[in-house]
Amino acid sequence: MAAQAGVRYSVKNPRTYLENNINGYFNILEACKENKINHLIQASTSSVYGNNNRFPLNENLSTSSPLSFYAASKKSTEVLSHSYSYIYKLPITCLRFFTVYGPFGRPDMALFKFVDKILNNKTIELFNFGNHYRDFTYIDDVTNSIEKIIKKPPKKNIPFEIYNLGSNSPISLIKFLRFIERELGKKAKIKKIKMQKGDIGKTHADNKKLTNRIKYLPKFNTEIGIKNFIKWFKEYK
Ligand SMILES: NC(=O)c1ccc[n+]([C@@H]2O[C@H](COP(=O)([O-])OP(=O)(O)OC[C@H]3O[C@@H](n4cnc5c(N)ncnc54)[C@H](O)[C@@H]3O)[C@@H](O)[C@H]2O)c1
Repeated sequence: MAAQAGVRYSVKNPRTYLENNINGYFNILEACKENKINHLIQASTSSVYGNNNRFPLNENLSTSSPLSFYAASKKSTEVLSHSYSYIYKLPITCLRFFTVYGPFGRPDMALFKFVDKILNNKTIELFNFGNHYRDFTYIDDVTNSIEKIIKKPPKKNIPFEIYNLGSNSPISLIKFLRFIERELGKKAKIKKIKMQKGDIGKTHADNKKLTNRIKYLPKFNTEIGIKNFIKWFKEYK
């Protein structure tokens, strides 16, 4: 999990992604090898799919054209994993998360920023004029899946597997914002702006591979997820 996350910040400061995500991940691989770890689970991202538009996105699509340095750094960790898995027989499962949200979510992500700004009467900058689609994935669907996958290390000759972990139900950012407004009982002030550098228009996960492996089925829809986040946010702030 440890990484420098975030697409937008990688445009400003790519070096920190090189140092933390690539060099840092190399240290993790070495530590796992030295300590003969039974199973390494790594957090990767839907960003590796770049501009692929064959939805839903499945694990066999090409991921060799990342659009941001963040995506490039996470893709790099996937290929570093493959080599360690092949050479040292280190079992590694790579999970490609799709926009994870929920309590304790990152302050630079949409849900946190939207709620914070609405409550404080500040203007929300809506990227890509609100036309983004994201496969928002509730945090408990992620953690429950990790718990299950821990017990299932890959067993093949090259013990390395990649799985998408999404919700398989993309929604537009404008609709996402409308759910938040409804839950808060308050309208947002919005300024629609253009697409940000390195960003992608849509994500939509094909989860079949993970479903076959651990009977994965997302349990939390966006409305419940937003409700839970707001409850947490009001107690936390
Ligand atoms: N949140 C998402 O929607 C999302 C989507 C796809 C992938 N991911 C991946 O999931 C993981 C967790 O993301 P998150 O959203 O919880 O981010 P986060 O920033 O909340 O958590 C990352 C943690 O890593 C720590 N860290 C960073 N560099 C480190 C280093 N060199 N040594 C030790 N610790 C370090 C940070 O201090 C932070 O606590 C990341 O690998 C991210 O790339 C997240």
